[in-house]
Amino acid sequence: MKNEPVIAIAGVTGAVGAEFIATMDRRKFPVRKLKALASSRSAGKTVDFRGQKVVIEELHERSFDGVDIALFSAGSSISRKYAPIAVKAGAVVVDNSSAFRMDPNVPLVIPEINAQRIREHKGIIANPNCAAITALVPLWPIHRVNRIKRVIIATYQAASGAGAAAMEELVESTRAHLAGEAFQPKVIAHPYAFNLFSHDTTIDPETGYNDEETKVIRETRKIFEDERIAVGVTCVRVPVLRAHCEAITFECERPISEAEVRDILSAAPGVRIVDDRARNYFPMPSDASGQDEVLAGRIRADLSDPTGHSISMFVAADQLLKGAALNAIQIAELLPERAMA
Ligand SMILES: NC(=O)c1ccc[n+]([C@@H]2O[C@H](COP(=O)([O-])OP(=O)(O)OC[C@H]3O[C@@H](n4cnc5c(N)ncnc54)[C@H](OP(=O)(O)O)[C@@H]3O)[C@@H](O)[C@H]2O)c1
Repeated sequence: MKNEPVIAIAGVTGAVGAEFIATMDRRKFPVRKLKALASSRSAGKTVDFRGQKVVIEELHERSFDGVDIALFSAGSSISRKYAPIAVKAGAVVVDNSSAFRMDPNVPLVIPEINAQRIREHKGIIANPNCAAITALVPLWPIHRVNRIKRVIIATYQAASGAGAAAMEELVESTRAHLAGEAFQPKVIAHPYAFNLFSHDTTIDPETGYNDEETKVIRETRKIFEDERIAVGVTCVRVPVLRAHCEAITFECERPISEAEVRDILSAAPGVRIVDDRARNYFPMPSDASGQDEVLAGRIRADLSDPTGHSISMFVAADQLLKGAALNAIQIAELLPERAMA
């Protein structure tokens, strides 16, 4: 791999694809050449990258010839088909989809937690689910000091988590609602304007958990390398354009105070405390949007646990950045192949 790698983005026109471009630019990620890949719908259009117009190509089997790093954000089926092709062509793949996350041969990485796993990759590194990243960045430094036995999470997930078309549908359905017009949803199965609903992924009839919830449970165990951690989670989509929030309550092995949690989180990489009781000012999507850190606040003892082992908090993070593009670029920055160039 050259010091200035050739980068391909599969899904460049999507909500995450746009953030790949902006994040590479912002972090001055060295790029010799950018290959912009999407579906036939976008072929021939252009994207702006560092003052140049890059023509979008339709993704096909030879798209990765000569590519050093391939960033995938075009959905699981595209990743399943094309990531192995990219690896065969000599690229390292950082995949945003869920296709390979639970594959024991694929590292599932949040650099603030398990950057050391990047070195073990066999061509593909998976980016975790965005709701999982939002919870785990602030939970990990606590877990290291005082093991978390059990965590209960309720999510408030933004439209952008479902892609660019879902954001547009939220805006359009809100406009229609305000104008008193009927609106026929095309992307989201439920009315979205002035409404919220249980996460629109498939429900497992046995457990009653939806796919998003199951991902959070499994990925937490894999990333923390702790099969015993008990995770309960309810995922909900809210009519917010960008940035997920989560109400989190966790129980540690030993007693823990809110002051200790505040101390730990104030030194934690990737976390910013926003916890102003006097002003009733806590993490919000509007403040988290466009930010790299997970905002953490409302840190307080869980009064339902009189033993003093449990803490509640509220967090917000831009899931298009830390939950997707930023986390993937951080991984790309740490690739051992780049250090050897
Ligand atoms: N949104 C998030 O917060 C988030 C967070 C973490 C992970 N992810 C994952 O990232 C992926 C993309 O999410 P997104 O939110 O960016 O979705 P999106 O806005 O709907 O974008 C989808 C992208 O995939 C491309 N694509 C679709 N079908 C294709 C095909 N047959 N061949 C080539 N390209 C194709 C689209 O190109 P066209 O424009 O040409 O159709 C577009 O660039 C998904 O796997 C998602 O689970 C998303």
